[in-house]
Amino acid sequence: MTRRNNMILYKTESEIAQMKEAALLVSKTLTEVAKVLQPGMTTLQIDKLCADFIKEKQAISSFLNYRGYPFTICASVNDVVVHGFPNDAPLKNGDIVSIDMGVILNGWHGDHAYTFILGEVPVEVLNLVKVTKESLYKGIEKATVNNRIGDISYAIQEHTEIKNGYGVVRELVGHGLGRSLHEDPQMPNYGKRGTGPKLKENLVLAIEPMINMGTKDVYTEEDGWTVRTRDGKPSVHFEHDVCVKKNKALILSDYSIIEAAEKANTNLNSSYY
Ligand code: MF3
Ligand code: CO
Repeated sequence: MTRRNNMILYKTESEIAQMKEAALLVSKTLTEVAKVLQPGMTTLQIDKLCADFIKEKQAISSFLNYRGYPFTICASVNDVVVHGFPNDAPLKNGDIVSIDMGVILNGWHGDHAYTFILGEVPVEVLNLVKVTKESLYKGIEKATVNNRIGDISYAIQEHTEIKNGYGVVRELVGHGLGRSLHEDPQMPNYGKRGTGPKLKENLVLAIEPMINMGTKDVYTEEDGWTVRTRDGKPSVHFEHDVCVKKNKALILSDYSIIEAAEKANTNLNSSYY
């Protein structure tokens, strides 16, 4: 998409309160997923669960029909990086699946994602999941006034690529969020400290590291959406909606409820070998 520069929009406190409602609705939906997810379930079933849940809450999907996207969620399994179509293949023990979802509530978008582990996965995969989630929080720590976008980018790249040797996807980036799903600025997961737009108070960003176990290279399938790793190795995606503040960024979405449901779900029974 081509956009003019200097289109960064800052939100008022009351707008941020409304955006928090939208982000939290996504968190609550992902919590419903965490409660019932288990091997044997299909991603189409998850899509229906999410579509029904947000409808009940008077929200609409940000993704459905966005540039022709045909589903409510993106369900990206194993080597699918992002934008996987829900399908009728049962999830298996040892799979990892990123569920990414957006809603519009009272005119404001929430957009966030969580990668779930189904049963026993290799320790290397578990580490990729852990490091990617950590990198998201390391990026969020830099989302304070007078830092720059590149400070967030670098923090993510440092933790994943420089310290752990993973591949940071270059083709896809995070973004500003508001009345549109994708606002300025772009929010890459790689970059240099002290570069890029300066962060001002009440900029809302969707920060979303997409991190590959192997190389950074990806390709898009014939369907025009599904992004996969070139080397076929797994990829992990986490996304939070974050508001820039003076001393400490405000995270609008909430992993604590998803994590609690994940822990309580004995069918997930995440472990490693
Ligand atoms: N979180 C992704 C993004 O912000 C999801 C977009 S999927 C689409 O780009 F269907 F909406 F394109
Ligand atoms: Co996003």
